[in-house]
Amino acid sequence: MRVLLLGSGGREHALAWKIAQSSILDELFIAPGNAGTKQHGKNIAISPTDFEAIKKFVLENRIEMVIVGPEEPLVNGIYDFFQADDTLRKIPVIGPSKFGAQLEGSKDFAKAFMARHKIPTAKYATFTSETLNEGLQFLQGMKAPYVLKADGLAAGKGVLILNDLNEAKNELKSMLQHQKFGAASNKVVIEQFLDGIELSVFVITDGESFKLLPEAKDYKRIGEGDTGLNTGGMGAISPVPFADSGFMDKVHNRIIVPTVKGLKSEGISYKGFIFFGLINVKGDPYVIEYNCRMGDPETEVVIPRLKSDILDLFEGVATNTLSERDIQFTDKSAATVMMVSGGYPEAYEKGKSIYGLNTIAESIVFHAGTSADGPSIVSAGGRVLAVTSYGKNIEVAVEKSYDSISKIKFEGAYFRKDIGQDVI
Ligand code: AMP
Ligand code: GLY
Repeated sequence: MRVLLLGSGGREHALAWKIAQSSILDELFIAPGNAGTKQHGKNIAISPTDFEAIKKFVLENRIEMVIVGPEEPLVNGIYDFFQADDTLRKIPVIGPSKFGAQLEGSKDFAKAFMARHKIPTAKYATFTSETLNEGLQFLQGMKAPYVLKADGLAAGKGVLILNDLNEAKNELKSMLQHQKFGAASNKVVIEQFLDGIELSVFVITDGESFKLLPEAKDYKRIGEGDTGLNTGGMGAISPVPFADSGFMDKVHNRIIVPTVKGLKSEGISYKGFIFFGLINVKGDPYVIEYNCRMGDPETEVVIPRLKSDILDLFEGVATNTLSERDIQFTDKSAATVMMVSGGYPEAYEKGKSIYGLNTIAESIVFHAGTSADGPSIVSAGGRVLAVTSYGKNIEVAVEKSYDSISKIKFEGAYFRKDIGQDVI
């Protein structure tokens, strides 16, 4: 099979690494990719949101499957773009339709969907600039902390959790009246605060059946002990010790099955990953958010635990035969620790030479933000490398990653030293 993978982060390097191991792969292209994906296929300089350029490349290079890493092309409708074009329609896109991608692209859509299908989530109400006064009154009637969410995509920054009522009111005004998050905050969801531990659960679906992937836990804040600014994710572990079979049965019955059935019953085309951002509140799972793609850095621990041929699964998704495919995982634990540029998630410098990559034997180094500068590899983003290791438990896996990190150098490199500590 000739495959095009869209994206350029650690998630895409992990997917490219796995796709390259498939027995049915003929050639892999990654657009635009990074210095890591280049080890597994051919990078091409096309943006994942430039649909016309993607069309030209797909036709000229006889691509037979397109796998979408990030959310933006999905929310912009790449699936529908292929469906609407006579020359592209027969080429499967792994990812939901534009309508289905609203599970991530619109918090209001996701909340209403969960309400229709009785999927447990925080109580909420949605407001616009026309209903700002009702929104302010609604806040008045709630207890702190106040959770305000911009409806649309806001690069992971659109959620505010505030302890002070007046601050919450001011933020609501700035989101609705002054477009704090641009058009993404034309609508704002206000919801009940849920107190618990978060985890990420993933399925792949062909729209009829689904396969559960290993769950993971992501470490979102820049500082140890989960303090400081939010980031894209500073590390991840899989499996998650508290996600025992009793808890996962509840996730299956109350959340995953009603979601997949709900999409089908509403006639929403959805062939791809569903990422359930969950919170465990006293043993009961609630949905914090849906994403229409895999998580990053969760992919860097979930995909290494997959033993089955990933293209066989994708083929099952494309041909509505996922239920006939076999999916196997390793019992080994996996951990990934993210090495980031100094200053991230605020201003940081790029272009720093990375040393020591060739010396790593005990870990898999997934590139998150790198580029090739002649023979050397340089940093090209805030998150630079995701260092993944296996172990008989999380403790061993994490230790191996830290050992590998001690052999990798670039100027200003920072990483959290407590990944997995809360569950060890
Ligand atoms: P989201 O983008 O919806 O995942 O929200 C970002 C982060 O805000 C989540 O990962 C949670 O840590 C937190 N969060 C969102 N909604 C809630 C809620 N209702 N209660 C508590 N924390 C929340
Ligand atoms: N790691 C969280 C995300 O991918 O959204």
